[in-house]
Amino acid sequence: MTQEIPGTLLLDPQVIDDPYPFYRRLHAEAPVWEVPGTGVFTVSTFELVAEAVGRVGDFSSNMTSLLYRDDAGLPARFSFGDAGGQVLATADPPLHAIHRGAVFPELVAKRMRELEPVIIDLADGLVTTALNDGTVEFMAAIGNIVPMTMISRLTGFRDSNLDDLWNSAVNGTRMLGSTLSFDELIEIATSGDTVRAWITDQLSAALKDPGEDLLGAVARSVIDDVMSEQEGMIILTTLLSAGGETTTSLLGNAVRILADNPELQEHLRQNPDQIPTFAEEALRLESPFRYLMRSVPKDTTLGSAAIPAGSTVLLLWGAANRDAAEFERPDEIDLGRRIPRRHVAFGRGIHTCVGAPLARLEARIVLGVLLQRTTNITLEPQHRPSWVTSLLVRRHHELPVRLQVH
Ligand code: HEM
Repeated sequence: MTQEIPGTLLLDPQVIDDPYPFYRRLHAEAPVWEVPGTGVFTVSTFELVAEAVGRVGDFSSNMTSLLYRDDAGLPARFSFGDAGGQVLATADPPLHAIHRGAVFPELVAKRMRELEPVIIDLADGLVTTALNDGTVEFMAAIGNIVPMTMISRLTGFRDSNLDDLWNSAVNGTRMLGSTLSFDELIEIATSGDTVRAWITDQLSAALKDPGEDLLGAVARSVIDDVMSEQEGMIILTTLLSAGGETTTSLLGNAVRILADNPELQEHLRQNPDQIPTFAEEALRLESPFRYLMRSVPKDTTLGSAAIPAGSTVLLLWGAANRDAAEFERPDEIDLGRRIPRRHVAFGRGIHTCVGAPLARLEARIVLGVLLQRTTNITLEPQHRPSWVTSLLVRRHHELPVRLQVH
């Protein structure tokens, strides 16, 4: 008989640092697992994650609670019912399609191509500076900067302070990190965020004179009564936190994989056309969003598990992407996979990431420039890389690397 999986494993800092043995145990023993006595369920296999995202009536995106770590180390729910409101990522049909329709045309691949020269210039400048230093903390020097700059530019924000935007975005994801204590969670949730007020001002200005950008698209939806100003404001904030930190994570995770693997670097320097495939493998192996949440409006089942109404379900994208039933040798990089984009790092179904084309473009360009302008990327032996302690994001807090040019 298998032993019950201890509930404290989910938020154990060591497991968060290296979650893959735990994911394997979930796959084998409990594809749908209730963290004992908490009403919180995880879904870890590819097949069941894919099923759950398709059953939007049973697994609602309406966010009714946030998780914190209680004194016993277990996930506990801070529930607020419907008070969170349903906007885009947290909306179910039919409202979801209306919100998505407002931003989607601004994020399609065709629009992204217009941004390509801007990203190339930015990446080139940052890599040049980093090469002068030789040893750099990749996240601060490049990884954190490119995505925030691009999302701000794409949105059409005027005179943005990138540090403020970054801090606001990270505060948003920290609330979903599930590793804060109750007091820390409440402090962040109730702290005044000057960036929110600033975004409100930006939207007000765009309402008077909507431009040809995301801000303008949202403003036009408000003017046409497709959404309220408050909804528009939440969509802009969502884009910032969903679009900044995730892509940052991807860039860092990809560079970490390269630094650990000189042959792979060399292969990609010789075959740059395979960099996009490598980015997909990096997304699969170290999925930047490890999970996202669903609420359960009525009693249901998934696989062989009964899930009562009122439960909270965590779809573990990061675990599904390492499922041996779906991916041969799931823990290995394989640039020859038949369908490299088959992973669920960008989710699946109606909520599939709208920003995927931008994230992919940024990854292709930054990794391409970095590989092209270096002969070797290695970890800085004196300073080990560190991960952010979050159940949500798989991001390096620090990634010190040496960039060699000959
Ligand atoms: C590597 C980078 C990224 C990753 C791994 C990622 C991951 C995800 C995932 C897993 C979802 C599905 C949410 C769910 O089903 O609950 C999602 C949705 C979303 N993402 Fe991304 N994302 C990335 C980049 C971006 C960027 C650059 C933007 C903005 C430009 C963005 C904006 C959004 C939005 C607005 C949604 C909600 C879509 C909807 O509900 O219809 N993301 N993302």
